[in-house]
Amino acid sequence: MPSKVAKQWKDELASGETYRQRIKTRVEYSLFKLRPCSKKLKQIIRLGKIRPGMKVLDFGAGGGRDSVPLAYMGCELDALDCSDRVLRNLIAYKKSVERYAKGTLKINTICADILEADLLASRYDVIFSCGVIEHFLNERERRQVYQILARSLKENGRIITSVPNGNHPLRARQRAERLGGYNIEEIDYTVELFENDIKGTGLVLEKVKGFNLFGYVFILPRIAKRGWLCLIIKPFYLFLRLFENWLPFLFTRKYAYWLFFAARKR
Ligand SMILES: C[S@@+](CC[C@H](N)C(=O)[O-])C[C@H]1O[C@@H](n2cnc3c(N)ncnc32)[C@H](O)[C@@H]1O
Repeated sequence: MPSKVAKQWKDELASGETYRQRIKTRVEYSLFKLRPCSKKLKQIIRLGKIRPGMKVLDFGAGGGRDSVPLAYMGCELDALDCSDRVLRNLIAYKKSVERYAKGTLKINTICADILEADLLASRYDVIFSCGVIEHFLNERERRQVYQILARSLKENGRIITSVPNGNHPLRARQRAERLGGYNIEEIDYTVELFENDIKGTGLVLEKVKGFNLFGYVFILPRIAKRGWLCLIIKPFYLFLRLFENWLPFLFTRKYAYWLFFAARKR
């Protein structure tokens, strides 16, 4: 059965210019070469131990923010999304990078609802999703998603899931006022939920990491709208983030804006 989530996202994304990323000039391309990865993607690469040549699935790929740099790095990507609208943007982004890179990036797009996707068994070294699973409100559907993903993962392959931290102090407000940027419901995703969702799939939790310490303060409209307030807060925020990797997880699991989970197929 198709998921309600896929229908909601298709409608939401059909109504606007979403995830549009292009490389328009040679200068932009040079910058892209120097800084091809977002900080989130760097976490995914580290946790997934992603290397060139690996087969990777980006579940809920959006406009290719992560798929394109990974393909540029030399991975073979399948970018799956239920919205053809965002996949068109992904293809445009890929082509604009290829124009300057003078080569072809290995990205295959799959337009499908994950619950109905026809994925090959034991195909991928790594599967990742960024900001997707928390939109599946139904536990049965989430477990089904992980069953499907685990099946298409190679033995010893890894799944990396990243979600907004369901425990952070502004979480209730973020959800109530839809401060995440989309008009789609989410659950408060936590370590316990992830462990529960992967039960019986053959996946074993390997690592949990808090990311972007205190980053949630910038979603507050009062701060987001006023440039000067951001300017005052940003130095403190950047200073505190220096310690992100050294603080105990008991602290970061509460005060990080995002959580990353890595699980391995055994
Ligand atoms: C918040 S966006 C994240 C996009 C991208 N991962 C990023 O971080 O920029 C969630 C994406 O998941 C896709 N999505 C949601 N439910 C899905 C489903 N059931 N099957 C496939 N894709 C889905 C949406 O279309 C959307 O592009």
